[in-house]
Amino acid sequence: MCGIIGFAGKEMQVAPILLDGLERMEYRGYDSAGIAVRSGERRLQVKKAKGRLQVLLDLTHGGADLEGTLGIGHTRWATHGEPNDANAHPHISENGSIALVHNGIIENYLDIKEHLVKLGVHFTSDTDSEVVAQLLEYHYNECRNMLEAVGRVLRRIEGSYAFGIICSDYPNALIAARKDSPLILGRGENGNFIASDVTAIIKHTRDVIYMDDGEIAVVTAESVDVFDDELIPVHKKHHKVDWDVSAAEKGGYAHFMFKEILEQPEAIQKTVSPRIRNGRVVLDDIKLTAEYAGEISHIYMVACGSAYHAGVVGKYVWERLLRRPVEVVLASEFRYSQPLVDEHTLVITISQSGETLDTMAALREAKRLGGRTLAICNVVGSSIAREADDVLYTWAGPEIAVATSKGYSTQLAALDLVGLYLADLLGTIEPAEYNAILAELQALPEKMRRYLADYESTQYFASRYFNHSSVFFIGRNLDYAMGLEGSLKLKEISYIHSEAYASGELKHGTISLIEPGTLVVALGTYGPLFDKAMSNVVEVKARGAEVLAVTTEAFREKMEKTADAVISVPETHPVLQPSLGIVPLQLFAYYVALQRGCDIDKPRNLAKSVTVE
Ligand code: AGP
Repeated sequence: MCGIIGFAGKEMQVAPILLDGLERMEYRGYDSAGIAVRSGERRLQVKKAKGRLQVLLDLTHGGADLEGTLGIGHTRWATHGEPNDANAHPHISENGSIALVHNGIIENYLDIKEHLVKLGVHFTSDTDSEVVAQLLEYHYNECRNMLEAVGRVLRRIEGSYAFGIICSDYPNALIAARKDSPLILGRGENGNFIASDVTAIIKHTRDVIYMDDGEIAVVTAESVDVFDDELIPVHKKHHKVDWDVSAAEKGGYAHFMFKEILEQPEAIQKTVSPRIRNGRVVLDDIKLTAEYAGEISHIYMVACGSAYHAGVVGKYVWERLLRRPVEVVLASEFRYSQPLVDEHTLVITISQSGETLDTMAALREAKRLGGRTLAICNVVGSSIAREADDVLYTWAGPEIAVATSKGYSTQLAALDLVGLYLADLLGTIEPAEYNAILAELQALPEKMRRYLADYESTQYFASRYFNHSSVFFIGRNLDYAMGLEGSLKLKEISYIHSEAYASGELKHGTISLIEPGTLVVALGTYGPLFDKAMSNVVEVKARGAEVLAVTTEAFREKMEKTADAVISVPETHPVLQPSLGIVPLQLFAYYVALQRGCDIDKPRNLAKSVTVE
């Protein structure tokens, strides 16, 4: 949610570097974009524009219009103030000496603004961020030391932030600060960076430092210095990013989403294979002991969006494997629901980005209440990964498309691994069942490749059904859980209204919406309940629905007798079936959105990483 970047270069012109970084981070927000460059004679030059980055690229001739080696940039997902030029970042203080970019929300900005207005400060935007730029000028005028001024400002503001700041009095340095919004520092050969995300700077460096909450950094072309909130220097560890720029590029594909869907077999393999040794799940990365596992009385899975949907699948799987109650809660609800957490509660937080604010807050609440936390996370060094007691990384690689695909499927694989691991510790699973699931988990990538080698029918059905205005996804048990994600995929990228229902629930109300021609995506991949799923297909058919079914190769023939169109995937162990069944649903959503001319990688109103509440 908003992306910020900054570069202090030795000789290289900063503007093209900032624009390139913003392009790579545009998935974080695309309402407007802007850059500020310090160019000779203490002048700060700012260019910003409403709309996609392309508008700014055109406006600045690819950055050629702004000369200088020090600068900051921003791509915005609007929170305070409509998306327009004035509200675009960077924000400039009244005398033009300070430029600031911000990701996050300043909660007490109205009080501060009122105070500054009384002092005669004039504002030019409706944003909370401009208030910080103006407050900074006020404090800088008091102390004439930028680091000190930033420290004073941070003591006055409440909320979440990652800031990038340049000042006309400082020709070589940019200042960064963070609290509850992601920010990394990068050390490159030709200069040093700040960025919301590794993807923005991976082209230039893989040597990064993760900033912690409350820290302030002073970055020049030669040095990176970090201070705590008392302005005392802090020694920071360097990390080497283990992927390169090609992983974050489209590589010839039309969309990141399509590329990421196709990358799923490999992503699952990378997540699963290193954790299976001699026929057992070995989780070196987590420190859960058999003794602690034995004392677990309650398990929560907490997450947002697709990660929550992964949790719904996880609940069905874990309750079967562990014979323990598992509750899946939306992170935004968990944090305010006075959850029943104590030292015998295991709280699993699931997040691709590791920066989702609600999930982060839920994690902190769980810890505050004494629970044990385990994060399933894709981004190394992200806030959630660092704060959880244990973390199990999904090795999906960078996910750029706003709509997740490989992020979700590797979350399922990680949940399967931890579920098997705990069931083994607890002795709640028969050896035959353990071995069967483990074997099928290892076979998943190959089976997924089999479906991906021949998905033309999915593409064809998308072109047949893309004009429907409303779609229902129905299924039972794990098919219902999978339907939640299939429905979200369709609605978020194609803007078609869609709902997922547990099939058995239809007749309690929703079936009244089924009329001749209504599109129903019927999910019948979960073997144990296939016959019941079929009855529901018959029910909606009887009311005139057009049924597109997703089932397994084994059930295909039966399904074809009733459904109008059938897609089949290879069969696997029932608890793993959603990992295969979700792939046609992702591709269906993708091709429907393509037919409708939607902006697939950057759907309207959305952003990849939701770092505001
Ligand atoms: C899914 O396609 C969405 N982009 C969204 O629901 C996402 O899964 C959710 O915001 C959670 O993100 P996280 O996994 O990074 O925490």
